[in-house]
Amino acid sequence: MDEKNAGKAPPSLPSLPDEHEETYESRVRIGFVTDRQEWATALAQKSPSTLSIESHPVMEDWETGYMEMLAAFAASKGGRILEVGFGLGLSARAIQKYPIEEHVIIEANADVYKDACIFAAQAPQRTIALLGFWQDVTPTLPDGSFDGILFDTYPLSAEEVHRNHFPFFPEAFRLLKEGGVFTYYSDEVSGFSAEHRLFLERAGFRAIDSVLCPVEPGENCLYWKHKTILVPRIRKDVRGETETPPYGLQLLFDGYGAPRTLLEDVGFLYDTLMRLPEEIGMRRLGYPQIIQIPETPIVGLSGFVFIIESHISVHTYSERGFVTLDIYSCKEFDTEKAKVLLESLFKVRRSETQVIVRGTKFHADFPVPPVSTGENTCPPS
Ligand SMILES: C[S@@+](CC[C@H](N)C(=O)[O-])C[C@H]1O[C@@H](n2cnc3c(N)ncnc32)[C@H](O)[C@@H]1O
Repeated sequence: MDEKNAGKAPPSLPSLPDEHEETYESRVRIGFVTDRQEWATALAQKSPSTLSIESHPVMEDWETGYMEMLAAFAASKGGRILEVGFGLGLSARAIQKYPIEEHVIIEANADVYKDACIFAAQAPQRTIALLGFWQDVTPTLPDGSFDGILFDTYPLSAEEVHRNHFPFFPEAFRLLKEGGVFTYYSDEVSGFSAEHRLFLERAGFRAIDSVLCPVEPGENCLYWKHKTILVPRIRKDVRGETETPPYGLQLLFDGYGAPRTLLEDVGFLYDTLMRLPEEIGMRRLGYPQIIQIPETPIVGLSGFVFIIESHISVHTYSERGFVTLDIYSCKEFDTEKAKVLLESLFKVRRSETQVIVRGTKFHADFPVPPVSTGENTCPPS
């Protein structure tokens, strides 16, 4: 689950939408089990309606209807279905209602895995339970071997909250047959966020659709506070049938409550623009330019630096403690890391960010470049 994974960032991520703030904070307060071995061996607290591991509310049965919708889509092609994360077995039971050939379940926690084994032994369709984290298990499974995938795990670190599904997207694409379908606990309230869609596209998915599921989480639910949750309906399309990858990303950062002295400090802004590109994995071109804004009553600075990937621009309004900064890049970058860095550099009290996907038709009339491996450079002009 992703909300169960609330937070503020995916493999390069913008800040989480405000709607995730509360659930993110509640998870952070519980603390994280960063040691995978600890998660794997922890005894699970189970009841018919809830599952918790190391005090984390991993699954609650108000999700039954949602799990049924995910299962219906994952099993819609029949054939071999991969399910990642067994939990209370709600989605597993729903998958079994469909005429599938095989159901493969991956579960990381040994105690929950025992339940998955009992389930597999009694399931009406051929079912196999595999013990381990998907990160270790799926690399052993062949390309194009599944007709449907349902992914619902749990975040084991603050960075994964609301974003634990992003690293799985490329693996889902690899494991699916052409025309196969993929769905997952989305952590989205009413639609795909831009970065969410971007990560799906970067993984190779082009046919991206969704429907909403109405839900009634209990008042005390720590990981979901909304009345709807998105059911992703993703298909691995036949090559070249639909959209091409976008040109790049633009991170828009607005920071409030920064110290006035900092925002008026030309040397500070110059140093910041000198080092920022390298710190976010980009390459500076030449030296920054800083100017004092020559217009009363505005007191502040403007700065600009070219980077090979595009540019970084910044404006400060020191009398209001406000800084507004754009990072425009044709290269995928960790927008969450950039946000955290900017918050710290400018010592802001609060910030907001947006990520815009730029140039969605850039590759439309040209051959599609290979899917990013993380070492991507700018697309050829
Ligand atoms: C939210 S529950 C799954 C709920 C399930 N869909 C249901 O309907 O009951 C998440 C499960 O994923 C497991 N898990 C967490 N991280 C995992 C990983 N990296 N690989 C495999 N399983 C994982 C947890 O131990 C937990 O049992």
